[in-house]
Amino acid sequence: MRRVGLLLLLALVHEGRTSWEEWWTYDGISGPGFWGLINPQWGLCSKGRRQSPVNIEADKLLFDPRLRPLHVDKHKISGSLHNTGQSLMLRVDQDSKHHVNISGGPLAYRYQLQEGYIHYGTHDGQGSEHRVGGQAFPGELQLYGFNAELYHNMSEAQHKSQGIVAISLMLQIGETPNPELRLITSVFNKVHHRGQTTPIRHLSVRALLPDTNHYMTYEGSTTHPGCWETTVWILLNKPIYITRQELYSLRKLMQGSPETPKAPLGNNARPLQPLHHRTVRTNIDFFREQGKNCPSMYRDMHYQATTWADNEIL
Ligand SMILES: *[C@@H]1O[C@H](CO)[C@@H](O)[C@H](O)[C@H]1NC(C)=O
Ligand SMILES: *[C@@H]1O[C@H](CO)[C@@H](O)[C@H](O)[C@H]1NC(C)=O
Repeated sequence: MRRVGLLLLLALVHEGRTSWEEWWTYDGISGPGFWGLINPQWGLCSKGRRQSPVNIEADKLLFDPRLRPLHVDKHKISGSLHNTGQSLMLRVDQDSKHHVNISGGPLAYRYQLQEGYIHYGTHDGQGSEHRVGGQAFPGELQLYGFNAELYHNMSEAQHKSQGIVAISLMLQIGETPNPELRLITSVFNKVHHRGQTTPIRHLSVRALLPDTNHYMTYEGSTTHPGCWETTVWILLNKPIYITRQELYSLRKLMQGSPETPKAPLGNNARPLQPLHHRTVRTNIDFFREQGKNCPSMYRDMHYQATTWADNEIL
């Protein structure tokens, strides 16, 4: 059955009725299990071993005392919110002189914020792509930037070394929502259907961030095709809050056009990917904060140079 479906899809693409860029989804024959097959340039989606999202397990985190605080510029940006049919995407205007720089943390370079994606579920028990201790959050806001010291833009950077940073903010339901998030949630009704876009103005991305310096970080990929393994992930250690009403209006968005609305846009999460021996580092010093024992890079600092006795005969 699936094979027939895939051939049909190929035929549609060859006829020029659609393009690869549009023909991927989160379920069925163009879903995550097939991304790597439907476009040769997306091979990493099926073959990659440095893929995202992943499940974060607290007892496997490695404390790294060399991780610095993350820096995100606080000035306001303009952009637009766009229903792509797969996700709700925030595009940050790149023409202004004042780019939002992302640096510090685990980053060796300065990155420039370019876009954001909102992943969410149609029910509270699912939505986020990353999970913590196996638990999903109702949503996840991902902010992507490209390495502005080495590359010109996202499309150049995404398949190059150290090309991308992605900051992950978990969305939790709460009565005191993030005020900056209002600027986005208040226009959900303008992007009901695929292809619809609405402007966003005076948004401070820094003000969106939760009040914490703590994060987890690992080397992974974009969670959408082509799954390029060029992404440094930074998962902030506190969620930001969205109200039930805001989530309700988010869940009303559709994948299709007004004529053929198709299914709801929600549940747009790629399944968890295996870690394959990657390390997830954190700047949370569990040992100091809770007096608990936890794997730590401090151990590495206690290595001592081997001393050889002068008279030792080998
Ligand atoms: C971002 O970094 C560039 C290059 O260092 C700098 O010119 C620009 O002023 C920075 N943006 C802000 C808002 O500080
Ligand atoms: C990105 O930068 C590359 C290299 O400078 C350029 O060729 C390409 O047209 C740019 N793409 C976009 C979408 O701006």
